[in-house]
Amino acid sequence: MIQVNDLSFSYTKSPFISGMNFSVSEGEIFGFLGPSGAGKSTLQKILIGMLRTYQGSAMVNGVECKKRTKHFYENIGVDFEFSTMYEKLTARENLQFFSSLYEKKPRPIDELLERVGLEQDADKRVADYSKGMKSRLNFIKALLHDPLLLCLDEPTSGLDPTNSHMMKNMILEEKAKGKTILLTTHNMQDATELCDRVAFIVGGKICALDSPHNLIMSKGAATVTYTWFENGEHSASCPLGRVSSDEQLKGLIAENRLQSIHSSEPTLNDIFMDVTGRTLV
Ligand SMILES: Nc1ncnc2c1ncn2[C@@H]1O[C@H](COP(=O)(O)OP(=O)(O)OP(=O)(O)O)[C@@H](O)[C@H]1O
Ligand SMILES: [Mg+2]
Repeated sequence: MIQVNDLSFSYTKSPFISGMNFSVSEGEIFGFLGPSGAGKSTLQKILIGMLRTYQGSAMVNGVECKKRTKHFYENIGVDFEFSTMYEKLTARENLQFFSSLYEKKPRPIDELLERVGLEQDADKRVADYSKGMKSRLNFIKALLHDPLLLCLDEPTSGLDPTNSHMMKNMILEEKAKGKTILLTTHNMQDATELCDRVAFIVGGKICALDSPHNLIMSKGAATVTYTWFENGEHSASCPLGRVSSDEQLKGLIAENRLQSIHSSEPTLNDIFMDVTGRTLV
């Protein structure tokens, strides 16, 4: 679905994105992770044909992005960080208007509104929507024309846990239908749950690219931390794979003196800090 070869781009005279290569298969959820200003949105804007002064190649659905025509957008749905609705129109009027821009028959508007819990507010002006309501509306706008590729830029930011869960389920439903999804997020939990593969982006460059599972495994085994009481509280750790040879732990278990024991797996954020020396937010 996406093939990027030797991609370079700059807003100014100095290069920003340079020599970037990656591809995304049909039906894949592909995540862009990186600190603020890393170039995630820039990359998405190139892939949807908004920024066309790049060098190298960025192909989406068989089309070189800088040569996109109107038809290119029949198969791309975009939910970017900021609401793109007409504030004076109602949610329903907005969705009706945006549907009319596509050649394809739109998905039923009422069904989509209901799906994200906006059916009661369908005839309210968007100006009177809350931030989370706007996010949900923006998301279903991206689904209106049932596109093959969804580009989602921080879709769950500003949503409460229930709505965030609902949106993640809807993203997985689109994947189950074979849709390809590009997802930018600062939320490591979301990325781990949703993405087949993620690319860590820092300073316009990809510094790691793999499945969340492989990236987490690359950090090494989980650690077991245990505590016990002996003239005050003590704690010790050992790798999960070596618990059976940790003499101290074996002794504490035999004497039934353990106060607590738990394992902790590395997270994507740990990997990100290892690979880049930076935190994600
Ligand atoms: N239109 C523009 N003109 C000049 N510079 C820009 C423009 N848009 C973005 N930039 C710069 O490009 C860099 C990358 O911005 P981008 O929006 O791609 O970051 P991001 O990774 O999406 O960050 P965030 O997580 O904050 O959304 C930033 O330094 C930003 O200031
Ligand atoms: Mg961004």
